[in-house]
Amino acid sequence: MLHCFYGLVCLSALLAFATFAGAQTDCPVQLNPERVVVRHGGSVTADCSTSVQHQGIGWEASQGAVSMITDKSLITWRVSELTEWDIEPFCFINYKKGDKLHQCLVKLPVTVYKTPDSVSISTVNHSGPMMEGKEYKLQCDVLGVAPVQYLTVKWYKGQTLLNQTTFNDNIKTPVNKTATLLIRPDRADDGAQYKCVAELVLGAEGPSPTESAFNAEVYYKPKYSISTETIFKGDDVLLNCTVKANPAPTYIWDHLKETSSSSVLQSSELSPGNYTCTATNTRGGDSKVFIIKSNDQTTFWAIILSGVAVIVVLIISYLIFKFNSSPNSII
Ligand SMILES: *[C@@H]1O[C@H](CO)[C@@H](O)[C@H](O)[C@H]1NC(C)=O
Repeated sequence: MLHCFYGLVCLSALLAFATFAGAQTDCPVQLNPERVVVRHGGSVTADCSTSVQHQGIGWEASQGAVSMITDKSLITWRVSELTEWDIEPFCFINYKKGDKLHQCLVKLPVTVYKTPDSVSISTVNHSGPMMEGKEYKLQCDVLGVAPVQYLTVKWYKGQTLLNQTTFNDNIKTPVNKTATLLIRPDRADDGAQYKCVAELVLGAEGPSPTESAFNAEVYYKPKYSISTETIFKGDDVLLNCTVKANPAPTYIWDHLKETSSSSVLQSSELSPGNYTCTATNTRGGDSKVFIIKSNDQTTFWAIILSGVAVIVVLIISYLIFKFNSSPNSII
């Protein structure tokens, strides 16, 4: 017998013993498999066997019941088309222990599933392109799925898992469920794929997930990462004002008269100075300034030469001054 020094240790030891006994020796039957996962309308089988002498063994179930028999040690519960949503089969046995007749049973847990009739993703109270920085609600409708307690709805942007929802209802028949996700898209999300994936998490025997996706279009204004660019004038000057934006922006150069022009300006005629370009779309605008500096070789050498000339003149003046003011040093 167990020695119980501490109440709690003793209690858990007894519980462990009782659980072990319940599964293994209390009722002398073995189920194979011990639990099943089956599609609604699908087929299912499970064996019940015993190694003891018995007065009868059978399966009780609302579908596929097997009447008690006495001449076999293995009987099979078999349903070719399971139509019940809530089925609780059990195998029972009558046997003698000493000269007393015992009856006991072991339940077979059955999970009946149905993949969704449809899964669809949509934006709530909105259609068309989304505006950068604004909040939107995505909705995923999962219709006709069972059992909902095993359902997980996962949200993805591209390959990235954003969120997931599970459901606690203990309903065995098919239900409709909705999951939502708040998003605040930015410019990088233009063209991104949002996806909701409805998955019945039932292990290896379970079904594959069902998904629905949509590609986001995001409107955003032009924004230059560098707002000033300095260019040294050579023979040819290339000013590139191109910027990403959605819808595509129009460009205006402040020194040109036309309102709509190209984003790239190439010219050999541009004189040094500042040139501003403004990109604009329906969301807003941004400007970039190009500073053209002269890169004239003659100017460069003129500065160097005049500098050298000034230094030479200074040295000569100093020497003349020194020679004239110190007569004693001359022999
Ligand atoms: C689920 O939605 C469908 C379509 O809207 C409807 O026909 C069906 O009755 C709904 N099922 C339940 C269980 O509410």
